[in-house]
Amino acid sequence: PQYLSTNKEKELIEIATTLVTKGKGLLAADESTGGIQIKTIQLHETFFLGSMLKRLQSIGLENNEENRRFYRQILFTGSKDLSNYISGVIFFHETLYQDDDNGKAFREILKEKGIICGIKVDKGLVPLAGTNGENTTQGLDGLSERCTQYCKDGVRFAKWRCALKIGDGLPSELAIHETTNILARYASICQQNGIVPIVEPEVLSEGDHDLDRCQYITEKVLAATYKALNDHHVFLEGTLLKPNMVTAGFDCKKKYTPEDIARATVIALQRTVPPAVPGICFLSGGQSEEEASINLNAINQYPGKKPWVLTFSYGRALQASVLSTWAGKRGNISAAQNQLLKRAQAHSAAAKGEYKG
Ligand code: 13P
Repeated sequence: PQYLSTNKEKELIEIATTLVTKGKGLLAADESTGGIQIKTIQLHETFFLGSMLKRLQSIGLENNEENRRFYRQILFTGSKDLSNYISGVIFFHETLYQDDDNGKAFREILKEKGIICGIKVDKGLVPLAGTNGENTTQGLDGLSERCTQYCKDGVRFAKWRCALKIGDGLPSELAIHETTNILARYASICQQNGIVPIVEPEVLSEGDHDLDRCQYITEKVLAATYKALNDHHVFLEGTLLKPNMVTAGFDCKKKYTPEDIARATVIALQRTVPPAVPGICFLSGGQSEEEASINLNAINQYPGKKPWVLTFSYGRALQASVLSTWAGKRGNISAAQNQLLKRAQAHSAAAKGEYKG
């Protein structure tokens, strides 16, 4: 039975389709503050990859609230032209309530640029006990209340990330079942609060597996994701998918072309993602900025059935040059902002299959 009102469904469709307007994508700026460390557990590198600790450390800056605010100010206060290429920004909780130097809220600054505000609502990875280093993602407790508040504060979409490893016997049935179920629960809670859920079941690139193996696992994970979303009565037209591209593991000896990656990625999606889903926005997952443009372009050029918009929701592949150009120096700010614009423009062209390099 229909549990969302027709109006609510319309709103969700409107937000989701606007986010994936052809030639636009998302800036993932939702790195966690990175201050929380669980001392008793041996934390793997993947726990910190998406943290500001990692970003600021890379340019020798201390990870404190002011440095995080200042960096985000660089991202959000450049040219208005950014909105030609970026439809939405994903915030971390802290950023939603931060202001620029003049006391203007970041969310207001983006709104004036015509960029939609989103937020990461999961509370990070935690180990799945008894598995070979696998994780689930926590954060469901109180999620509905948080979504209600976020919606009042202007947030229109959310992100929740689960991460699955490829390895000997990995991902396990348990990890696939647990993570896809939790993604579906999250999606259902968001939709009831008028927020479009971006569903992110990331298959990680760590390892020496080849392209075929990544395609096989990605298909398994996506098939399980859409089974779980269906079981939880999630309204697919009001969701977006944020998957990995199908690539070989970082340590794989065999090299593949962008066309190989495009074919494997589009086939995996054709086999598993219903056409009811309006858009698919890829994560960059450790690809360089240039690779992320080239591969997205190849995906959009790949001939065949593609009943969804195929675009980007990149973190590292939009921020790497910004960070290295800024390098923590005030004199470099506008050059850093130009890097963001340049990269967003490149990914935007790729999202239309028009990237020339
Ligand atoms: P990357 O593009 O750096 O993989 O980050 C995207 C993201 O939001 C991962 O959750």
